[in-house]
Amino acid sequence: MALVKKIAIIGAGNMGEALIAGMLAAKSAAPDELHATDILTQRLDHLKARYQVRVGMDNKAAAAWSDITILAVEPQVLDSVLDDLRSVLTEAKLIFSVAAGYPIRRIVAHLSPSVRVIRCMPNTPSEIQAGVSAIALGGNVSREDERLARAVFESVGKVVLVDERLMDAVTGLSGSGPAYIFLIIDALADGGVKMGLPREAALALAAQTVLGAARMVLETGKHPGTLKDKVASPGGTTIAGLHALEQGRLRASLIEAVEAATKRSRELGSE
Ligand SMILES: NC(=O)c1ccc[n+]([C@@H]2O[C@H](COP(=O)([O-])OP(=O)(O)OC[C@H]3O[C@@H](n4cnc5c(N)ncnc54)[C@H](OP(=O)(O)O)[C@@H]3O)[C@@H](O)[C@H]2O)c1
Repeated sequence: MALVKKIAIIGAGNMGEALIAGMLAAKSAAPDELHATDILTQRLDHLKARYQVRVGMDNKAAAAWSDITILAVEPQVLDSVLDDLRSVLTEAKLIFSVAAGYPIRRIVAHLSPSVRVIRCMPNTPSEIQAGVSAIALGGNVSREDERLARAVFESVGKVVLVDERLMDAVTGLSGSGPAYIFLIIDALADGGVKMGLPREAALALAAQTVLGAARMVLETGKHPGTLKDKVASPGGTTIAGLHALEQGRLRASLIEAVEAATKRSRELGSE
C-alpha cells in the first residue's frame, strides 16, 4: 500500500538500504518519496544508481523535507545525529528508530517531550524481505503513526508489536536468532556429510528443510509440537533423531541462548 509520505533514511547502511529496497519492492513508496543520507559519497552514488532515490549528506535537510524520518545510523553516533536534528525533528515529524539498545526516552531527551517516536527492531533477513521487526510505541504516537510504521516494516517482513521493555528479549530472540539458525543449518549439513552426503547437497537439504519447517509453522498455524508428532512415527527414524537431540539438550541450549543474548543486550543498553 502506497504511503504517499516523504521518508528520510538517516544512515543508509545495511539496514537503511534494506528498508529502501523493501519499500520500493512493496510499492509502499516511490523513489522520489525517499531521501537517503550517509557520510560516504560512494554509498550515496550506489543508492542513487540502484534505486533512483534522492540522496545527500545533509541529515538536517533530509529530515526537514520528510514527513517520516528513519534513524538508521549506528547507536554510538545517534547522540550527535539527534543533537544536529533537534531544530527540525519536531512533533510534526514521525520518527522511527532502528538503533539497537537505544531507548525512546533517550531520543526524547535529545529532542523534545512532544516528539512522536516508534522504536523498531528489525533483523538481518530484512535484507531479502524475509525479516521480522518488533515495534514499540512512544508516548505521543497515534493509531495512524502505528499504521505507517507497520506499512514500512512489513515491506521487509513481518511486524510484531511489543512493549518497549521487551526489546532486549526481542534482540535475544529474533535479533540474534538468524545466527543461531545458521549454526543449526551448518550442523545439520555436517551431519549429512558425516553420513556420506556431498557438502553442497547436504547444505541445500539442511537449509531448505529449515525454511520448509518454518513455513509450515507459519502457514498452517499449527503448534510446532503437533507438527513434530506427525513426523515421528512409532519406532521410526525421526523419534530416534529427536531422542538424540534431547540427550544433547538442544531445547535447553536454545532457551539459554535467548536468555544469554537478552541479558547481554540489557548490559549493553545500560553501559
Ligand atoms: N543490520 C541489521 O540487521 C540491524 C538489525 C537491527 C537493528 N539495526 C540497527 O540499524 C542501525 C544501522 O545498522 P546497519 O547494520 O545498517 O549499520 P551500517 O551498515 O554501519 O549503517 C549505518 C550507516 O550510517 C552511516 N553513518 C554514520 N554516521 C552517520 C551520520 N552522522 N549521518 C549519516 N549517516 C551516517 C554509516 O556510514 P559509515 O559506514 O561510513 O560509518 C553507515 O553507512 C544500527 O543502529 C543498528 O543497531 C541493524
